[in-house]
Amino acid sequence: MSAKRPNCLAVFAGAAMTAWLLTSAPAAAQPSPDAIVDAFEAVLGPVRTHRPSHPKGVCAAGHFVATAEGTRLSVAPVFSGQRNTALIRFGVAGANPNASDTARGTRGLSIRFESAAGDLFEMANISAPVFIAPTPQALVDGLLARANDPATGRPNAERAAAFAAFVAANPSVGNQAAIWAANAPPASFATTPYWGVNTFRFRGQDGQIRPARWVFEPRAGVERLTAEQMQSLGNHYLADELRRRVATAPIEFDMVLQFPGPGDDLLNPTIAWPDNRPRAVVGRLTVTEVSASPGGPCDPISFMILDQAPGIEMSDDPVLQARASSYAVSLSRRTQ
Ligand code: HEM
Repeated sequence: MSAKRPNCLAVFAGAAMTAWLLTSAPAAAQPSPDAIVDAFEAVLGPVRTHRPSHPKGVCAAGHFVATAEGTRLSVAPVFSGQRNTALIRFGVAGANPNASDTARGTRGLSIRFESAAGDLFEMANISAPVFIAPTPQALVDGLLARANDPATGRPNAERAAAFAAFVAANPSVGNQAAIWAANAPPASFATTPYWGVNTFRFRGQDGQIRPARWVFEPRAGVERLTAEQMQSLGNHYLADELRRRVATAPIEFDMVLQFPGPGDDLLNPTIAWPDNRPRAVVGRLTVTEVSASPGGPCDPISFMILDQAPGIEMSDDPVLQARASSYAVSLSRRTQ
């Protein structure tokens, strides 16, 4: 492929970091990418063909153009203001490729941007502002607490108790579940926001580095299923609804950066920043086509959580740091 892959596990240049960004805690040992994917397999069985997370989805295409504010806030090629093509995947979280579209839970929006010069940028976003684990180890522990012990065919009681104690001591782990308990699922893939959740560092034209998280906000507005629709719509209506919608007119999302305030936790993706923090609209994603069948060009790739250093760099959030490498292991197991 002629596309230029940015350094996805960049080592951060220290010079221009803000004082805020220097306050990260010393990194605790984290599981290897293979150990992470092994933990998914312990719960779901071998990762073959389907993604172990968000296995149900539909592939789409479109483009992304940065606003002038986006160009000012990041020197990354994706924010040049020129058109990037976008390969897009909307997904339903969980481990079941036949999951019900009317079930409460997470929906996904994954994007591979490619500039005319071949610069790639990739991300996978979810319809909640928070993740379910503050560290990769917590994700693995949570998965293994549910996995059957090969010796007994049942979950290991000691492991389950240890994870329950961890959750009791870290209540933010339950923040996402609380959102789904309080909110019906989106009516359409086009009517929910999708958050990047992890913190990135944006280097602007002025050379300043600003920590930020992003959200893709639907220009169609937020619309959730009614109780009646949750009963009456089929289990698999989302992809067709998207096809019908896009056949009528392109759908659009505004990419919005949110900047932290004093005391906001930059490194824990189970905790959202307050809504009143400063924001900037940095680009618009337009979806113009939806694949006629599931998969399509999205199946043989993974949306790898790349950066575009130095314009968009990863923060020290340990969850973010673990993502690209475990997605790569997952991709290689499901395409071998
Ligand atoms: C340590 C933390 C995480 C791990 C180990 C992890 C692992 C994975 C893996 C292995 C896949 C399947 C990749 C593939 O086969 O292509 C995946 C998919 C996905 N993950 Fe994560 N993930 C993590 C955190 C997150 C977070 C914080 C978000 C939300 C922003 C997220 C959103 C997604 C989405 C949307 C997909 C589906 C991507 C697609 O459509 O191809 N993940 N994850």
